[in-house]
Amino acid sequence: MGKIPQEIIDRILDKLDIVEVVSEYLPLKAAGRSFKACCPFHNEKTPSFVVSPDKQIFHCFGCNAGGNVIGFVMKHENLSFPEAIEMMAGRAGLEIPRTSGADDGTSSLVKQLYEANNTAAEYYQEKLGTPEAKGALDYLRQRGLNAETMKEFRIGYAPDGWENLQKYCKKKNISADILRKAGLSVKSDKGRNDYDRFRNRITFPIFNERGNIVAFGARIMTDSQPKYLNSPETTVYSKSGILYGLNFSKTAIREEGRVLIVEGYMDVIIPYQNDIRNVVATSGTALTARQVALLKKYTDTAVVVFDADQAGEAASLRGLDILIANGLTVYIAALPEGEDPDSFVRGCSGEAFRKVIGRAKDLFDYKLDLLLRKFSGSGIIERAKVVNEMLPTIVKVTNAVIQSAYLEKLASRLKLNEAALRKEMSKVKADYSFKYEEKTRVSSIPGNYRNSEIYLLGLAVLDKDMYDTMAGEMGLDMFIDETVKKVMFLLRDFYRSEKGPAAGKILSRLEDDENAKEAVLRGIAKADITGDKDKVLFDCIAHIRKENMEYELKNLTTKLKHAEAVRDQSAVNELLARINRLHKEKVT
Ligand code: UTP
Ligand code: MN
Repeated sequence: MGKIPQEIIDRILDKLDIVEVVSEYLPLKAAGRSFKACCPFHNEKTPSFVVSPDKQIFHCFGCNAGGNVIGFVMKHENLSFPEAIEMMAGRAGLEIPRTSGADDGTSSLVKQLYEANNTAAEYYQEKLGTPEAKGALDYLRQRGLNAETMKEFRIGYAPDGWENLQKYCKKKNISADILRKAGLSVKSDKGRNDYDRFRNRITFPIFNERGNIVAFGARIMTDSQPKYLNSPETTVYSKSGILYGLNFSKTAIREEGRVLIVEGYMDVIIPYQNDIRNVVATSGTALTARQVALLKKYTDTAVVVFDADQAGEAASLRGLDILIANGLTVYIAALPEGEDPDSFVRGCSGEAFRKVIGRAKDLFDYKLDLLLRKFSGSGIIERAKVVNEMLPTIVKVTNAVIQSAYLEKLASRLKLNEAALRKEMSKVKADYSFKYEEKTRVSSIPGNYRNSEIYLLGLAVLDKDMYDTMAGEMGLDMFIDETVKKVMFLLRDFYRSEKGPAAGKILSRLEDDENAKEAVLRGIAKADITGDKDKVLFDCIAHIRKENMEYELKNLTTKLKHAEAVRDQSAVNELLARINRLHKEKVT
């Protein structure tokens, strides 16, 4: 598919009604001029998900998800933008003109890498059915995998030999260069041929959230090392941004309202085969903010499954603070000594595993119990050690009520003064917010816009007259925030040819700029509920003009000092005149 012309997107938006489309997915209830439902993108009991037929957008006040009808379908069906357009065009009865050879928005390298990985998976799967893979197949069967599971997870076998995959891919017109870029082959030195990365191993394709294969994990069938050989980081694979199994489990995660986090590939696959499907694996590394952001799209509750060893160490719980910091509720489920989910489900049953999950303890309680056992003396030093371990976790709890309850509980269990704990926590907090927010907060945390700019943005999107008034009163380049400015210029171009409503169409023009979309939605949400829109409009304009003037004044004053220092009298005169003019303007 070629790049989709904006005109087509607009026609789709004109033809489709967001209320009609969304109501096929959710039970919408009328509420004033809008419709409400419980948000499908996060867990909630009271509806904060609003669909506006006037503006043709949706917005959730709980999780901040929002967008137009195309955005909704993308999010709900986990489609890429071109996929959603294709689906919605079909529905609107429109043809998408195809410009041959052109790009479709996803870069062609990305597509070629997906294709190379997919072809490799095909090849490995095919090989698993041949006599030379007998050992591999026996191994998989002995580990309890049935044929259906192998097929679903596209498990395969990379045969022994140095150039098998390369020869196969050559026939399929996949270049040596792409195979290298996909990490499937490795460049030799001394001008010799590339060689296949995976040889005589069982292959597990690693899928992204949408089900494209981005990498492989390949297991050796003996006790040798490394146990798993993985693809290197590539254009489509960044280990810290992938959760193994998410493409299979996302629906179940949403339905069950929680995700089980495990370590290994088999710890996802074996429970899955036993009907426990809300599982993802970190692939043996510490959780990252990007992984947490992926999970947050589906749930706000995580159960982390540990084996007895890890679960017995406070240090291994520290890595979970990143879940807490992003607003998830975290539970710990501990398996018996030496067991992982794979071995436990196979050795006992899926039912037994469910029971272990059901008994999972809140991270806070779990950690506190653990520490109290570890520092069993009731001396002051011991208690201070417990406090030292607990506070960094408590400080990251985003919900103030829960945070306060934890603090209270900590005080009472340790028989300490709560005020003292609170004081101690404020020290940790100062230290933490500085370091933590910079580096590990999920980037979807809303930007720090100025109120006046965000109000004006909302008003201008909602109403062309408001936009016209604003544009008459102030220059668009007076906006300081680059995101707001960008949307304003887009809006100017939009209103040159259309009268509105602008909301849905502006959002579609910002398809890959999440920050800008978020700013628009926030602006609309704010502007929408203000009673006296005219007053807000003029107040905000005045405020921005004043700020710009002050900024300019500061600038001129600096220049003036400089001119005086070098005794440039004519420059001094000119600058003074400008400063005077500005001062006069300011008071009028
Ligand atoms: P484990 O060592 O716990 O292995 O690594 P496992 O998952 O139980 O493996 P099986 O059951 O023996 O097959 C946990 C995860 O860490 C990653 C893999 O994702 C693995 O599933 N890992 C482990 C590697 O990437 N390379 C390795 O050499 C070992
Ligand atoms: Mn295992």
